[in-house]
Amino acid sequence: MTTELSPIDRAKRAAARRAAEFIEDGMRVGLGTGSTAAFMVARLGERVRETGLRVTAVPTSNRTAAMAKEEGIRVVTLEEAGWLDLTIDGADEFDPDFALIKGGGGAHLQEKIVATASDRMIVIADAAKGVAQLGAFPLPVEVIRFGWQATQRLLAELLEGQDVLGREITLRGGDKPFVTDEGNFILDLHLKRIGNPGTLALALNQVPGVVENGLFMDICDVVVVGHGDGRIEIRDRNSGRVITEPADAATGDNAFSGLKG
Ligand code: 5RP
Repeated sequence: MTTELSPIDRAKRAAARRAAEFIEDGMRVGLGTGSTAAFMVARLGERVRETGLRVTAVPTSNRTAAMAKEEGIRVVTLEEAGWLDLTIDGADEFDPDFALIKGGGGAHLQEKIVATASDRMIVIADAAKGVAQLGAFPLPVEVIRFGWQATQRLLAELLEGQDVLGREITLRGGDKPFVTDEGNFILDLHLKRIGNPGTLALALNQVPGVVENGLFMDICDVVVVGHGDGRIEIRDRNSGRVITEPADAATGDNAFSGLKG
C-alpha cells in the first residue's frame, strides 16, 4: 500500500502514524481535518480495534467525524468532552516559531476551537509545509455570509496597514462559494509574505463579519515532520528539542515519552 503513495503522501502518512502513538489509553483527543489528519485517524482506528485502546474523540469537521465513526472510534461533541488532553491536526504552513496557517480544508474555525480547548496540540506535516516566514499559502478567513462583500472591503482596507507583500482577496469557490460546516464563507487572503503574523491575527478578528482567521499563534506545541523516505523529525516547542527517527519508527511503539509535559 505504502509504495503506491506519492512521496508527499508517504511523508504525511509517516508523520501521522508517528503522532498517533502519542495517544494514550483514556485520553480525550481532538481529531484534525485534511489528508494528513485522515492518515492519523486511520492509524488511531487500527489501534482502537487491535489493542482495545479507549479514546474519546472530538472531530474538527463533519468529514473527520464520519471517518472516525467508520474507524470505530468513539466520537463525542466538544461540549460532552469538556476539555481535551491532546489535539492532532495537519497544517498548511508552519514556521520556526511554531506559528501556523491552517484552513486549506476550510475547517480552521472548529480546528482552532478544538486545539485551544486541549492541553497540547501536535501538528503533523510533510517537510514541504515548513517555511521561514508564513504567507505563501493563502490565509483563510471565515466570514459570515451576511454582508460578506462589505467584510471583504474592510479586510482590504485593513491589509493596507499590515506588513504583507500581497493584498488580493478571493472568495473560496468563486461563483459557487465554498460553505463551511458552520454555514459561513471563506475569503482567502493572498499575502505572499506575512511580516508580523501575531499582529495580523489579532487585527483580522476585529473586522465585523470575520468569524476566525487561519493563523494559529502560540497554539501548537509539537510538530511531527514526515519525509518522503519515511524519516521523522519531532520538534518540541517547549523544550526546543528536535528528535529524528528512522523510517520504521513511524509505525512502531512510542519512543517519544521524553518530550511529554
Ligand atoms: C483543514 C486544515 C488542514 O489541516 C490543512 O489544510 C492541511 O491539509 P492536508 O493535510 O490535506 O495537507 O487546516 O482546514
